[in-house]
Amino acid sequence: MLLKGQTALVTGANSGIGAAIVKAMAAAGANVGVNYIVNEDAADRIVKQITEDGGSAVALKADISKEDDVTNMFKALTDRFGALDILVSNAGIQRDSPFEQMSLEQWNEVIGVNLTGAFLCARQAVREFLRRETGATASQAAGKIIFVSSVHEVVPWAHHANYASSKGGIMMLMKTIAQELAPRKFRVNSIGPGAIKTPINKQAWDSPQAAAKLEELIPYGRIGEPSDIARVAVWLASDEADYITGATLFVDGGMLLYPGFRTGG
Ligand code: BGC
Repeated sequence: MLLKGQTALVTGANSGIGAAIVKAMAAAGANVGVNYIVNEDAADRIVKQITEDGGSAVALKADISKEDDVTNMFKALTDRFGALDILVSNAGIQRDSPFEQMSLEQWNEVIGVNLTGAFLCARQAVREFLRRETGATASQAAGKIIFVSSVHEVVPWAHHANYASSKGGIMMLMKTIAQELAPRKFRVNSIGPGAIKTPINKQAWDSPQAAAKLEELIPYGRIGEPSDIARVAVWLASDEADYITGATLFVDGGMLLYPGFRTGG
């Protein structure tokens, strides 16, 4: 029960990595907010499952790229649970396109959710951490933010200029606010997943041929599971990781190890 007595908000928590994180945080004793924008049923099922298992959860509909939605979501969460200890800024989308064909809409949509959404949620979390009386937290830090970034915060990705730019932006957002807020005892970090089996990249793993091709990029030889990320998120949010701030923990089976050089160079 590494997060006992704490409250966590996870964005994009009704599927993929976000769903695994919110369930793992609830299992670790946190009250959780399950943010979603589409597919309300999935969010409700997660809330039901957590509640049946003896936890506390609330589903929160919000488009995180919209300021008012974000403000209202945080208000609904703190009305229910009193205060916020952990934000997991996870919601993300891809709108892939060859660069010369990428529309402004595709660019704005991805930057809007992945980067502006991360900014809006992180800013609101910090306002909430500051609002709470000092000493009222169940953890050593006075507040914790975890961004779910990607290996693509450092790995360029053809046909994904909008997505890679958003993740590179998250890296500097994370580091800058980690630096700015450390004196307040807020910890800010990212997790950089590699290829994890979720709906966002289904076409890259759901046929044996596609999976074999993807595995060539992963020295450890297997595509990741959402639970691989969820375990790390629980630990990173907990006091076990109290001295970590301003870091990206890559959880990628070695994807960043230049696998093309195994046989070349
Ligand atoms: C993307 C996935 C991709 C993975 C590794 C993630 O950030 O969302 O589509 O499989 O990076 O390239």
